[in-house]
Amino acid sequence: MSTTNVSPTMSHRKKVTTLTFRQKKERGEAITMLTAYDYPTALAMDKAGVDSILVGDSLAMVVLGYENTLPVTMDEMLHHARAVSRGAKSALLVGDMPFMSYQVSVEDAVRNAGRFLQQGGMDAVKLEGGRERVDAVRAIVSAGIPVMGHLGLTPQSVNQLGGFRAQGKTASAAKRLLEDARILDEAGVFSLVLESVPARLAEYISRQISIPTIGIGAGPGCDGQVLVTHDVLGLFERFTPKFVKQYANFHAEMNKAFMDYIDDVESKRFPAVEHIVEMTDDEWSSFLKEVK
Ligand code: KIV
Repeated sequence: MSTTNVSPTMSHRKKVTTLTFRQKKERGEAITMLTAYDYPTALAMDKAGVDSILVGDSLAMVVLGYENTLPVTMDEMLHHARAVSRGAKSALLVGDMPFMSYQVSVEDAVRNAGRFLQQGGMDAVKLEGGRERVDAVRAIVSAGIPVMGHLGLTPQSVNQLGGFRAQGKTASAAKRLLEDARILDEAGVFSLVLESVPARLAEYISRQISIPTIGIGAGPGCDGQVLVTHDVLGLFERFTPKFVKQYANFHAEMNKAFMDYIDDVESKRFPAVEHIVEMTDDEWSSFLKEVK
């Protein structure tokens, strides 16, 4: 394994906090966020200078191979959160509260949010939903834990929404979304993810509330953007949402690397002389004498 240093440009930047988020909104500077689930990805992202890393429950689909986000558990989320926190020292780290970790009771919600900070090394948590989650949001915030909201396409409600489909497309649905955004703002969330909602609605909401909005499939009028890293890197081959910009095709790269490796081993090109450990001729002769 190489220990060569990558560019030190971003390695000692100041820790990003919820205050940084607010200041960026005030200054009209875009907030950058990506998901990560492991140490090396978090390290590379943090060095690149991303503002925030979300340990998303998208883990269930893009890393663990489930059909949707519902099966992932608190313990699995914490396992990945810890790995990310070992890799990223500057970005604001947000742990995504998994399905059933905050819906059953407010007490559960506070306890599980606390676990993300105490056991997962996170700085904040994210949870899905509007007015129906406001009691949980208030209780977590009053325990001193920063909360990020999530409205629009909320994947944990996929069965209720009838699939992964855009939200807020009718006047009444748009009005309800705006109301929910205001309710969450008043309840004390420090920021709000808007997923798969019409761009003009996302821009309108962003202007109407005091906290920064982070869009995913919600257009350029949000105060920041987030994407699922496996979509960005072309690592998740099952489907790619329309709103994703793919910056690499790592699935194809991996596939090629694995085929090259198999070919090298089968044709005995690997290992070559530069990959092996040797012993001196003297030691070898002694060895042969001893074993004869
Ligand atoms: O789990 C996740 O990755 C998310 C993002 C899509 C915002 O919630």
